[in-house]
Amino acid sequence: MIKIYYSETAEDAGRAAAEVIASLVKEKPDCVLGLATGSSPIGMYTALAEKCDRGEISFKAVKSANLDEYVGLTKDHDQSYAYFMRANLFDKVDIDLNNTNIPNGMAEDPKAECERYDKVIESLGGIDLQVLGIGNNGHIGFNEPDDHFPYGTSLVNLTDSTIDANARFFTSRDEVPTQALSMGIGQIMSAKKVLLLAMGKGKADILERSLFGEVTPRVPASILRFANDVVVFADKDALSVIMEKHPGAVIK
Ligand code: GLP
Repeated sequence: MIKIYYSETAEDAGRAAAEVIASLVKEKPDCVLGLATGSSPIGMYTALAEKCDRGEISFKAVKSANLDEYVGLTKDHDQSYAYFMRANLFDKVDIDLNNTNIPNGMAEDPKAECERYDKVIESLGGIDLQVLGIGNNGHIGFNEPDDHFPYGTSLVNLTDSTIDANARFFTSRDEVPTQALSMGIGQIMSAKKVLLLAMGKGKADILERSLFGEVTPRVPASILRFANDVVVFADKDALSVIMEKHPGAVIK
């Protein structure tokens, strides 16, 4: 079942999403969070850091597993997802870094690293809540459009459209890694709850196709239609096509 919540701005959507995570952390202080990078979750992370600052929540016992990492970037590279997570959340809350997990994009043997990461996720005993953004082409994590849905962590060749989209964060397009390690669709679908964030006009079409179109590995996010519990927090620009085509589907 998918619930789509309307927010006027990306900031409002981030705050609303943070409420869901905060309730879970209060209810289950040692919960397992699946975390995502990208611009969409930044507002949510800011709101969570503020809540932690105010003493409303604590991440001391929380465990986390991130979705993905670029191949070839060290964890101190300012575009690595390890760096992103420290800058946007981990350094701002009281989480124990030993309880955080991100695939190692510098691993000499990426296949072995995928196997290691699968074991990490298994040892966490399942993900209570998985945060997702959505790529312009419908990717979740770095699971690109394909002819099948991968179950576990894999080494992914990034598509030209993803490299183009992510080039904005690098000085030149040539610097964007061409490969990544990504948690698989099966692992994402095993999470007890999924929180999908989408912000901006650029996501309006793909969000509608994912949530109302055919379920196909060509649009990886469309698999979420088969998940048990999905909540979508999006701003009015990202929801524009859905509101036009399926006005009754959005909760205001
Ligand atoms: C990257 C990440 C995805 C993310 C997507 C969208 O490619 N690997 O996990 O969802 O970008 O990012 P944004 O939220 O910046 O649009």
